[in-house]
Amino acid sequence: MQTMNLSNGNTIPAVGYGTWQAPDSEITVAGVKAAVSCGYRHIDTAAVYGNEVSVGKGIAACGIPREKLFITSKVWNADRGYDQTLAAFEKTLSDLGLDYLDLYLIHWPATAHRFRNWEEINLATWQAMTELYRAGRIRAIGVSNFRPHHLAALLKTEVIPQVNQIEFHPGLLQPDTVRCCRENGILVEAWSPLGTGRMLSNPVLQEIARHYGKSVAQLCIRWCIQHEALPLPKSVTPARIQENISVFDFEISESDMKSIDLLDNFGGSGLDPDRVPF
Ligand code: A2P
Repeated sequence: MQTMNLSNGNTIPAVGYGTWQAPDSEITVAGVKAAVSCGYRHIDTAAVYGNEVSVGKGIAACGIPREKLFITSKVWNADRGYDQTLAAFEKTLSDLGLDYLDLYLIHWPATAHRFRNWEEINLATWQAMTELYRAGRIRAIGVSNFRPHHLAALLKTEVIPQVNQIEFHPGLLQPDTVRCCRENGILVEAWSPLGTGRMLSNPVLQEIARHYGKSVAQLCIRWCIQHEALPLPKSVTPARIQENISVFDFEISESDMKSIDLLDNFGGSGLDPDRVPF
Protein backbone atom coordinates (compact mmCIF):
# COMPACT_ATOMS: atom_id res chain seq x y z
CA MET A 1 0.00 0.00 0.00
CA GLN A 2 1.32 3.41 -1.04
CA THR A 3 1.66 5.90 1.82
CA MET A 4 1.43 9.67 2.34
CA ASN A 5 3.51 11.71 4.79
CA LEU A 6 2.45 13.50 7.93
CA SER A 7 4.32 16.59 9.10
CA ASN A 8 5.60 14.77 12.20
CA GLY A 9 7.46 12.24 10.02
CA ASN A 10 4.89 9.44 10.33
CA THR A 11 3.45 7.80 7.24
CA ILE A 12 -0.19 6.99 6.61
CA PRO A 13 -1.57 4.40 4.15
CA ALA A 14 -2.88 6.31 1.10
CA VAL A 15 -6.42 4.86 1.12
CA GLY A 16 -8.38 4.38 4.33
CA TYR A 17 -11.37 2.13 4.98
CA GLY A 18 -14.24 4.45 5.94
CA THR A 19 -16.89 3.25 8.40
CA TRP A 20 -19.40 6.13 8.55
CA GLN A 21 -22.90 4.61 8.48
CA ALA A 22 -21.50 1.12 9.01
CA PRO A 23 -23.66 -0.54 11.71
CA ASP A 24 -22.46 -1.74 15.12
CA SER A 25 -22.89 -5.38 14.14
CA GLU A 26 -21.29 -8.40 12.51
CA ILE A 27 -21.61 -6.57 9.16
CA THR A 28 -18.90 -4.12 10.24
CA VAL A 29 -16.76 -6.79 11.92
CA ALA A 30 -16.82 -8.67 8.60
CA GLY A 31 -16.24 -5.44 6.64
CA VAL A 32 -13.08 -4.61 8.59
CA LYS A 33 -11.78 -8.17 8.21
CA ALA A 34 -12.53 -8.12 4.46
CA ALA A 35 -10.82 -4.74 4.10
CA VAL A 36 -7.65 -5.92 5.84
CA SER A 37 -7.54 -9.11 3.82
CA CYS A 38 -7.79 -7.01 0.60
CA GLY A 39 -4.77 -4.96 1.70
CA TYR A 40 -6.23 -1.99 3.60
CA ARG A 41 -4.08 -1.07 6.59
CA HIS A 42 -5.86 2.15 7.50
CA ILE A 43 -9.29 2.22 9.17
CA ASP A 44 -11.26 5.35 9.95
CA THR A 45 -14.00 5.43 12.58
CA ALA A 46 -15.47 7.91 15.08
CA ALA A 47 -17.19 7.75 18.45
CA VAL A 48 -20.41 9.12 16.95
CA TYR A 49 -20.57 6.38 14.31
CA GLY A 50 -21.50 4.11 17.21
CA ASN A 51 -19.54 1.22 15.69
CA GLU A 52 -16.20 1.33 17.52
CA VAL A 53 -16.89 -1.96 19.32
CA SER A 54 -17.50 -3.74 16.00
CA VAL A 55 -14.55 -2.03 14.33
CA GLY A 56 -12.40 -3.15 17.29
CA LYS A 57 -13.62 -6.74 16.96
CA GLY A 58 -12.72 -6.66 13.26
CA ILE A 59 -9.25 -5.35 14.11
CA ALA A 60 -8.74 -8.04 16.77
CA ALA A 61 -9.79 -10.79 14.36
CA CYS A 62 -8.07 -9.53 11.19
CA GLY A 63 -4.83 -11.45 11.71
CA ILE A 64 -2.53 -8.46 11.16
CA PRO A 65 -0.41 -7.16 14.07
CA ARG A 66 -1.65 -3.91 15.57
CA GLU A 67 1.56 -2.01 14.73
CA LYS A 68 0.99 -2.68 11.01
CA LEU A 69 -2.42 -0.96 11.12
CA PHE A 70 -3.28 2.75 11.15
CA ILE A 71 -6.41 3.44 13.22
CA THR A 72 -8.19 6.80 13.37
CA SER A 73 -11.06 7.93 15.57
CA LYS A 74 -12.68 11.29 16.40
CA VAL A 75 -13.92 13.11 19.47
CA TRP A 76 -17.61 13.94 19.14
CA ASN A 77 -19.13 17.40 19.57
CA ALA A 78 -20.77 16.58 22.91
CA ASP A 79 -17.30 15.84 24.32
CA ARG A 80 -15.57 19.10 23.45
CA GLY A 81 -13.45 20.71 26.18
CA TYR A 82 -10.38 19.56 28.09
CA ASP A 83 -11.74 17.05 30.63
CA GLN A 84 -14.44 15.72 28.33
CA THR A 85 -11.95 15.04 25.55
CA LEU A 86 -9.63 13.11 27.87
CA ALA A 87 -12.59 10.98 29.01
CA ALA A 88 -13.90 10.50 25.45
CA PHE A 89 -10.48 9.30 24.34
CA GLU A 90 -10.39 6.62 27.08
CA LYS A 91 -13.89 5.45 26.10
CA THR A 92 -12.91 5.24 22.42
CA LEU A 93 -9.79 3.22 23.23
CA SER A 94 -11.74 0.89 25.46
CA ASP A 95 -14.53 0.41 22.86
CA LEU A 96 -11.95 -0.30 20.15
CA GLY A 97 -9.99 -2.59 22.50
CA LEU A 98 -6.76 -0.72 21.74
CA ASP A 99 -4.06 0.91 23.84
CA TYR A 100 -3.14 3.72 21.43
CA LEU A 101 -4.52 5.45 18.35
CA ASP A 102 -2.58 6.39 15.22
CA LEU A 103 -4.70 9.48 14.67
CA TYR A 104 -7.33 11.30 16.74
CA LEU A 105 -9.38 14.14 15.26
CA ILE A 106 -11.74 16.85 16.53
CA HIS A 107 -14.82 15.79 14.57
CA TRP A 108 -16.36 19.25 13.96
CA PRO A 109 -15.22 22.71 15.10
CA ALA A 110 -17.16 24.58 17.75
CA THR A 111 -18.41 27.62 15.81
CA ALA A 112 -19.77 31.12 16.35
CA HIS A 113 -23.37 30.27 15.43
CA ARG A 114 -23.64 28.07 18.55
CA PHE A 115 -21.00 29.33 21.00
CA ARG A 116 -19.85 32.80 22.00
CA ASN A 117 -16.50 31.32 23.19
CA TRP A 118 -16.15 28.84 20.29
CA GLU A 119 -12.44 29.48 19.83
CA GLU A 120 -11.70 28.82 23.51
CA ILE A 121 -13.65 25.56 23.34
CA ASN A 122 -11.63 24.38 20.34
CA LEU A 123 -8.40 25.32 22.08
CA ALA A 124 -9.37 23.42 25.25
CA THR A 125 -10.17 20.31 23.18
CA TRP A 126 -6.89 20.77 21.34
CA GLN A 127 -4.94 21.09 24.61
CA ALA A 128 -6.21 17.67 25.71
CA MET A 129 -5.33 16.14 22.34
CA THR A 130 -1.86 17.71 22.47
CA GLU A 131 -1.19 16.22 25.92
CA LEU A 132 -2.31 12.76 24.79
CA TYR A 133 -0.05 13.11 21.75
CA ARG A 134 2.93 14.16 23.85
CA ALA A 135 2.31 11.25 26.21
CA GLY A 136 2.54 8.87 23.24
CA ARG A 137 -1.06 7.69 23.51
CA ILE A 138 -1.84 9.04 20.02
CA ARG A 139 0.69 9.00 17.16
CA ALA A 140 -0.79 12.01 15.31
CA ILE A 141 -3.55 14.55 16.00
CA GLY A 142 -5.74 16.65 13.79
CA VAL A 143 -9.16 18.04 13.02
CA SER A 144 -12.08 17.45 10.72
CA ASN A 145 -14.40 19.88 8.93
CA PHE A 146 -12.24 22.87 9.95
CA ARG A 147 -12.20 25.87 7.59
CA PRO A 148 -9.30 28.36 7.66
CA HIS A 149 -11.00 30.61 10.25
CA HIS A 150 -11.50 27.60 12.55
CA LEU A 151 -7.88 26.50 12.07
CA ALA A 152 -6.40 29.95 12.78
CA ALA A 153 -6.24 29.65 16.60
CA LEU A 154 -4.87 26.10 16.50
CA LEU A 155 -2.12 27.17 14.12
CA LYS A 156 -0.73 29.40 16.88
CA THR A 157 -0.31 26.52 19.36
CA GLU A 158 2.84 24.45 19.94
CA VAL A 159 1.61 21.36 18.12
CA ILE A 160 -0.41 22.23 15.02
CA PRO A 161 -2.85 19.76 13.43
CA GLN A 162 -1.28 17.14 11.19
CA VAL A 163 -4.53 16.25 9.38
CA ASN A 164 -7.77 17.95 8.36
CA GLN A 165 -10.46 15.51 7.21
CA ILE A 166 -12.99 17.34 5.03
CA GLU A 167 -15.73 16.57 2.54
CA PHE A 168 -13.85 16.35 -0.76
CA HIS A 169 -14.95 14.76 -4.00
CA PRO A 170 -15.47 15.75 -7.64
CA GLY A 171 -17.64 18.85 -7.57
CA LEU A 172 -16.51 19.89 -4.09
CA LEU A 173 -12.87 20.95 -3.92
CA GLN A 174 -12.95 23.39 -0.96
CA PRO A 175 -9.98 25.33 -2.41
CA ASP A 176 -9.54 27.84 0.45
CA THR A 177 -9.37 25.10 3.07
CA VAL A 178 -7.06 22.93 0.97
CA ARG A 179 -4.72 25.89 0.33
CA CYS A 180 -4.58 26.74 4.04
CA CYS A 181 -3.78 23.09 4.86
CA ARG A 182 -1.01 22.91 2.25
CA GLU A 183 0.58 26.13 3.50
CA ASN A 184 0.72 24.68 7.00
CA GLY A 185 1.84 21.14 6.16
CA ILE A 186 -1.55 19.67 7.11
CA LEU A 187 -2.54 16.53 5.19
CA VAL A 188 -6.07 16.72 3.75
CA GLU A 189 -8.21 13.60 4.06
CA ALA A 190 -11.34 13.19 1.93
CA TRP A 191 -14.55 11.98 3.56
CA SER A 192 -17.28 10.74 1.23
CA PRO A 193 -14.93 10.56 -1.77
CA LEU A 194 -17.86 9.07 -3.72
CA GLY A 195 -20.23 11.76 -2.47
CA THR A 196 -21.88 8.93 -0.49
CA GLY A 197 -22.66 7.32 -3.87
CA ARG A 198 -24.03 10.47 -5.54
CA MET A 199 -21.04 10.76 -7.91
CA LEU A 200 -21.53 7.34 -9.43
CA SER A 201 -24.26 8.23 -11.94
CA ASN A 202 -22.57 11.38 -13.28
CA PRO A 203 -22.25 10.99 -17.09
CA VAL A 204 -18.97 12.95 -17.38
CA LEU A 205 -17.33 10.76 -14.74
CA GLN A 206 -18.80 7.65 -16.35
CA GLU A 207 -17.29 8.61 -19.71
CA ILE A 208 -13.82 9.31 -18.25
CA ALA A 209 -13.88 6.14 -16.14
CA ARG A 210 -14.76 4.06 -19.21
CA HIS A 211 -11.66 5.42 -20.95
CA TYR A 212 -9.44 3.95 -18.19
CA GLY A 213 -11.40 0.70 -17.90
CA LYS A 214 -12.21 1.64 -14.29
CA SER A 215 -15.40 2.27 -12.33
CA VAL A 216 -16.53 5.78 -11.38
CA ALA A 217 -15.78 4.88 -7.74
CA GLN A 218 -12.18 4.02 -8.66
CA LEU A 219 -11.89 7.21 -10.71
CA CYS A 220 -13.07 9.36 -7.78
CA ILE A 221 -10.70 7.63 -5.34
CA ARG A 222 -7.75 7.97 -7.72
CA TRP A 223 -8.65 11.64 -8.36
CA CYS A 224 -8.41 12.29 -4.59
CA ILE A 225 -5.00 10.60 -4.39
CA GLN A 226 -3.67 12.67 -7.32
CA HIS A 227 -4.87 15.76 -5.44
CA GLU A 228 -2.98 14.45 -2.37
CA ALA A 229 -6.26 14.27 -0.50
CA LEU A 230 -6.31 10.90 1.25
CA PRO A 231 -9.58 9.12 0.33
CA LEU A 232 -11.68 7.22 2.89
CA PRO A 233 -14.25 5.30 0.82
CA LYS A 234 -16.89 3.48 2.85
CA SER A 235 -18.36 0.13 1.85
CA VAL A 236 -19.57 -2.96 3.63
CA THR A 237 -19.81 -4.90 0.34
CA PRO A 238 -16.79 -7.21 -0.19
CA ALA A 239 -16.54 -6.69 -3.98
CA ARG A 240 -16.66 -2.91 -3.57
CA ILE A 241 -14.14 -2.96 -0.71
CA GLN A 242 -11.73 -4.69 -3.11
CA GLU A 243 -12.66 -2.39 -6.01
CA ASN A 244 -12.04 0.75 -3.96
CA ILE A 245 -8.44 -0.17 -3.17
CA SER A 246 -7.58 -1.25 -6.74
CA VAL A 247 -6.54 2.26 -7.75
CA PHE A 248 -2.76 2.04 -7.94
CA ASP A 249 -2.50 0.59 -11.44
CA PHE A 250 -3.62 3.63 -13.45
CA GLU A 251 -3.04 7.38 -13.58
CA ILE A 252 -5.56 10.04 -14.56
CA SER A 253 -4.10 12.37 -17.19
CA GLU A 254 -3.67 16.07 -16.46
CA SER A 255 -6.43 17.01 -18.89
CA ASP A 256 -8.88 14.51 -17.38
CA MET A 257 -7.97 15.79 -13.87
CA LYS A 258 -8.86 19.30 -15.11
CA SER A 259 -12.18 18.14 -16.63
CA ILE A 260 -13.10 16.50 -13.31
CA ASP A 261 -11.99 19.60 -11.35
CA LEU A 262 -14.31 21.74 -13.45
CA LEU A 263 -17.47 19.75 -12.70
CA ASP A 264 -20.18 21.78 -11.00
CA ASN A 265 -21.00 21.09 -7.39
CA PHE A 266 -23.62 18.46 -8.16
CA GLY A 267 -23.45 16.39 -5.05
CA GLY A 268 -22.22 17.97 -1.84
CA SER A 269 -23.80 16.80 1.39
CA GLY A 270 -24.73 20.40 2.23
CA LEU A 271 -23.15 20.03 5.68
CA ASP A 272 -21.65 23.47 6.31
CA PRO A 273 -19.44 23.42 9.44
CA ASP A 274 -20.62 26.94 10.35
CA ARG A 275 -24.28 25.97 10.13
CA VAL A 276 -24.66 22.32 11.16
CA PRO A 277 -27.20 21.91 13.97
CA PHE A 278 -24.99 19.54 16.00
P1 A2P B 1 -22.14 -0.06 0.57
O1 A2P B 1 -21.47 0.27 1.88
O2 A2P B 1 -23.53 -0.63 0.75
O3 A2P B 1 -21.27 -0.91 -0.32
P2 A2P B 1 -18.73 7.46 0.48
O4 A2P B 1 -17.50 6.71 0.80
O5 A2P B 1 -18.54 8.56 -0.51
O6 A2P B 1 -19.46 7.95 1.71
O7 A2P B 1 -19.77 6.46 -0.24
C1 A2P B 1 -20.29 5.35 0.45
C2 A2P B 1 -21.51 4.82 -0.27
O8 A2P B 1 -21.17 4.39 -1.58
C3 A2P B 1 -22.11 3.64 0.45
O9 A2P B 1 -23.51 3.70 0.26
C4 A2P B 1 -21.51 2.43 -0.28
O10 A2P B 1 -22.41 1.33 -0.24
C5 A2P B 1 -21.38 2.97 -1.69
N1 A2P B 1 -20.19 2.44 -2.38
C6 A2P B 1 -18.95 2.31 -1.87
N2 A2P B 1 -18.09 1.85 -2.80
C7 A2P B 1 -18.82 1.66 -3.93
C8 A2P B 1 -18.49 1.18 -5.22
N3 A2P B 1 -17.25 0.82 -5.53
N4 A2P B 1 -19.49 1.12 -6.15
C9 A2P B 1 -20.75 1.51 -5.83
N5 A2P B 1 -21.12 1.97 -4.62
C10 A2P B 1 -20.15 2.05 -3.67
